[in-house]
Amino acid sequence: MDIKNKVAIVTGGASGLGRATAEVLAQQGAKVAIFDLNDERGQQAVAEIGADKAAFFAVDVTSDQSVEQAVDAVVNHFGGVHLCVNCAGICPAARTLSRDGEPMPLSGFSTAININLVGSFNVARVAAAAMANNEPSGEAGERGVIINTASVAAYEGQIGQTAYAASKGGIVGLTLPMARDLAPLGIRVMAIAPGIMGTPMIKAMPEKVQDALVANIQFPKRLGLPAEDFAGLVVHIAENAYLNGETIRLDGGIRMGPK
Ligand SMILES: NC(=O)c1ccc[n+]([C@@H]2O[C@H](COP(=O)([O-])OP(=O)(O)OC[C@H]3O[C@@H](n4cnc5c(N)ncnc54)[C@H](O)[C@@H]3O)[C@@H](O)[C@H]2O)c1
Repeated sequence: MDIKNKVAIVTGGASGLGRATAEVLAQQGAKVAIFDLNDERGQQAVAEIGADKAAFFAVDVTSDQSVEQAVDAVVNHFGGVHLCVNCAGICPAARTLSRDGEPMPLSGFSTAININLVGSFNVARVAAAAMANNEPSGEAGERGVIINTASVAAYEGQIGQTAYAASKGGIVGLTLPMARDLAPLGIRVMAIAPGIMGTPMIKAMPEKVQDALVANIQFPKRLGLPAEDFAGLVVHIAENAYLNGETIRLDGGIRMGPK
């Protein structure tokens, strides 16, 4: 799919990977709808990207009504939806049993599943319905592309990551069946499983901790770059019509150990 003049929804677009993706897609000529809970940072992103290329929609990805209203508003504002990139997410940490033997509160587990997994599905399903109204475009006759964000934790979750790893494993698991569901409409579904990316969350850690994380990366020995590496892959997936139903690890060859 040629990104130029297409409309992209980017969830979590107020920060980190989503923010970088919104910027890069706008640079490539797309119109970008930023879906995020964080009103202030969302508005700030639009101001920096340019109000002619981006718009902010205050959305809670876990709410069916919030997402349905926002996708309708995007169609009214920009004329359709062609690309949906789900980056909204949280990364909680809690062991199954605390050091005192207390079971992890169930709400901690449900919240991570609800935001990371249910939220991604929620936006994807409503975006797909909007994409179904598009005229087929390009050599393949595509109507849309959905890209979800998993994590290497889907494969090698760390201590304290049951909820996070399960939510990301769910993203990996739904990629193929959703691609199969939407194939008759010419809508592709892909997932990216990032390793350790240089987002504000990681950059805020002490240098020693960052160095220890980087030591596990094979090559290149650095944090992943939100714009060049992550958003660059988003652009490639959007443009390469033969990529479908797969999760791509984006991690410099890292395989997380048990500690
Ligand atoms: N940063 C990394 O190293 C890394 C690695 C692997 C996977 N990931 C995944 O990539 C995604 C983005 O991570 P990031 O580092 O950019 O995080 P981030 O915290 O910088 O950004 C996440 C954004 O999601 C928004 N958000 C959270 N809950 C929401 C909700 N219910 N509705 C709408 N918006 C909501 C937040 O407001 C925030 O702006 C996450 O799914 C994360 O699990 C990140």
